[in-house]
Amino acid sequence: MASILVIDDDASIVETLDLYLTEEGYKVRTALTGTEGLNKYVQDPSDVVILDIRLPDVDGFSVLEDLKEENENVKVIMITAFHDMETTINAMKGGAFDYIHKPVNVDELDLAIKKAIKSLEMEKKINGLLMEPSRSFRVGDIIGTGNEMRDIFKTIGTVSQSRTTVLIQGESGTGKELIAKVIHHNTSPEEPFIAVNCSAIVETLLESELFGHEKGSFTGAIARKLGKFELARFGTVFLDEISEMSINLQAKLLRVLQEMEFERVGGKDRVKVTARIMAATNKDLKTLVNEGKFRDDLYYRLNIVAINLPSLRTRRQDIPQLIDYLLAKINLDLHKKIIGVSSEMMEIFMKYSWPGNVRELENLLVRACVVSKGQVLGVGDFPELGKEDPTKFASNASVDLFKPVVSGKLLTLDEVEERYIRKVIKETDKNKGEICEILGVSRPTLERKLDKYDITFERE
Ligand SMILES: Nc1ncnc2c1ncn2[C@@H]1O[C@H](COP(=O)(O)OP(=O)(O)OP(=O)(O)O)[C@@H](O)[C@H]1O
Ligand SMILES: [Mg+2]
Repeated sequence: MASILVIDDDASIVETLDLYLTEEGYKVRTALTGTEGLNKYVQDPSDVVILDIRLPDVDGFSVLEDLKEENENVKVIMITAFHDMETTINAMKGGAFDYIHKPVNVDELDLAIKKAIKSLEMEKKINGLLMEPSRSFRVGDIIGTGNEMRDIFKTIGTVSQSRTTVLIQGESGTGKELIAKVIHHNTSPEEPFIAVNCSAIVETLLESELFGHEKGSFTGAIARKLGKFELARFGTVFLDEISEMSINLQAKLLRVLQEMEFERVGGKDRVKVTARIMAATNKDLKTLVNEGKFRDDLYYRLNIVAINLPSLRTRRQDIPQLIDYLLAKINLDLHKKIIGVSSEMMEIFMKYSWPGNVRELENLLVRACVVSKGQVLGVGDFPELGKEDPTKFASNASVDLFKPVVSGKLLTLDEVEERYIRKVIKETDKNKGEICEILGVSRPTLERKLDKYDITFERE
């Protein structure tokens, strides 16, 4: 139960607030003068202080100052009878959390108190994190609710008890490497986790990176070098962007996976593979197999257990929790104390299409935290997003995902319409009224179309 101290010289206001806030479930104490209020606070600090600016004995601003001196994090909501900017600005400058005008509107007060308490909770959480000595990877570090993410957690649990090969697929920034690290950490935390980006280096170099080489095996090979498969020992080799591996090297990798043995480049010794293999891709490997760009036998070898990560726009419900989590992480790195994002910004976030998924969210937050002056990130802190109409964004992105040609045949207008409606329903969490707005049709038209294409849709 949160505690509130009300300091105001108007006995009727004090009494009303006392009754109301007690009813709301807060532990309330009151004081009629600044000195009395300060004494009560010092004896037993409350979470929130509601403070009148004009008091009989001392000025409200100096009480604010003393309270802040006592506890830097105290949440003070000022009550002011003056509607002028200057009082308000001074209150905020003095470190007040919020201010409300007289006559007090209970809804406004309610909101201010709730915000203050939420902010306190966030600060406690952040301080908790700051005290954690070293952070290792736990399943708890993957934020995700919903069935798809829950199934992924289950799969992580299962594969962590074995050393099977895992193929992790998902759009860029969905957390593929994070998942790989969590699995690794749950399987062989003491052993190395070695990531190799298959797109970053030329084929011949990649081969020697993976399998190592013997002295003199090619120009420049001045000494024996161990490859990642050996260096990983009983840990993990994470083959990132596996789709970019050349066909030639794919053949070699396949043989290694079949025989669980390999030779260093230019060498004859057979070296045993003891590491666990995980691979990741942001392309659909099955499609590449069908197009002849990826070996199907290698695909089946890698795809023993598959984890398909959902895009962020299909799990928007996780955005608020992701923001909390990422901000805590960023605060720790940047020594900041950012509490959250404004409700206006949250609304934009909830509608945005997130082509870069969690990584994009993280990057935006980092940049905003660096430039932001306040503790709450607002629209002004995200110039990249503020300019655009986010709903336009979201629907445009969906259109981009259409393939007008399906198995060599062009789509009819009706087929496109049906796909588009399904896409908008699937990728937003809008109700029918809002869907009508996005599609630019009336309610009866939408109903007719849902009927025509046999689309059932429960959100009213
Ligand atoms: N579910 C999640 N919960 C918390 N943090 C996440 C989650 N998913 C991703 N992240 C964070 O987002 C960032 C990007 O994740 P990661 O590098 O694993 O993505 P990726 O799929 O490998 O991206 P890319 O395809 O661009 O290589 C990381 O900082 C990661 O910790
Ligand atoms: Mg990655």
